[in-house]
Amino acid sequence: MRKPVIAGNWKLFKSIGEAVALVNELKPLVSGAQGVEIVVAPVFTSLSRVSDAAKDSRIKIAAQDCYWEEEGAFTGEVSPKLLKDAGCSYVIIGHSERRQFFGETDATVNKKINAVIAAGLTAIVCVGESLAERESAQTFSVIETQIQGGLTGLAKEALSHIIIAYEPVWAIGTGKTASEGQAQEVHSFIRQLIARIFDQSVAGAVRILYGGSVKPDNVKGLMSQPDIDGALVGGASLKAESFSAIVCFNN
Ligand code: 13P
Repeated sequence: MRKPVIAGNWKLFKSIGEAVALVNELKPLVSGAQGVEIVVAPVFTSLSRVSDAAKDSRIKIAAQDCYWEEEGAFTGEVSPKLLKDAGCSYVIIGHSERRQFFGETDATVNKKINAVIAAGLTAIVCVGESLAERESAQTFSVIETQIQGGLTGLAKEALSHIIIAYEPVWAIGTGKTASEGQAQEVHSFIRQLIARIFDQSVAGAVRILYGGSVKPDNVKGLMSQPDIDGALVGGASLKAESFSAIVCFNN
């Protein structure tokens, strides 16, 4: 049984005050959500305060990125150990915006995943193809390269500390959701790939989230697909009303 995860990626939005207010608004709205893990990912500066505000709730905290060294002369970086100290249980790794704008590669994704797991946290590892890649029939090869590269060298035990997020780049922030069929096809491909790299039981247990214009009105259809185990939500996670409606998809 794979417990669904609904995670909100707040990206570069919200001051500390706004972030704390949002989590406080969310708490009563999601307290009755059935059988789902709830995660929010504020910017670094808000992590500690949002985590304190969420302590008496089921809302867990994710960071949006990390560095792979624990400490040292690495100006501007934050390690998984310090993210844990700030109250995080998850770290998003390899988001397409980081791959696109900040030089993230499958090799750095791999180092970050190892560091996150070593710190006792769970990595939410993002993969996804661009529109040009989809239109030139490269979706599966792109996803395979990202998964193989990102997870290279990991022991199968590590997979219980990994959540995969399939986020087609063309569906992020565009209002263009992948159809249920398009998403399911890639999720199923990822699960089979995990079975090939590790084994069937690891593949059966790993959770694969969909991300890209998930909204209250399309979450149920996506979640009805056999290989979709949750959602990574951008825009619709910035308002308590829409995010709580997504979290409560099962109610
Ligand atoms: P949107 O839900 O705004 O399309 O963003 C998806 C995303 O990038 C989540 O990480």
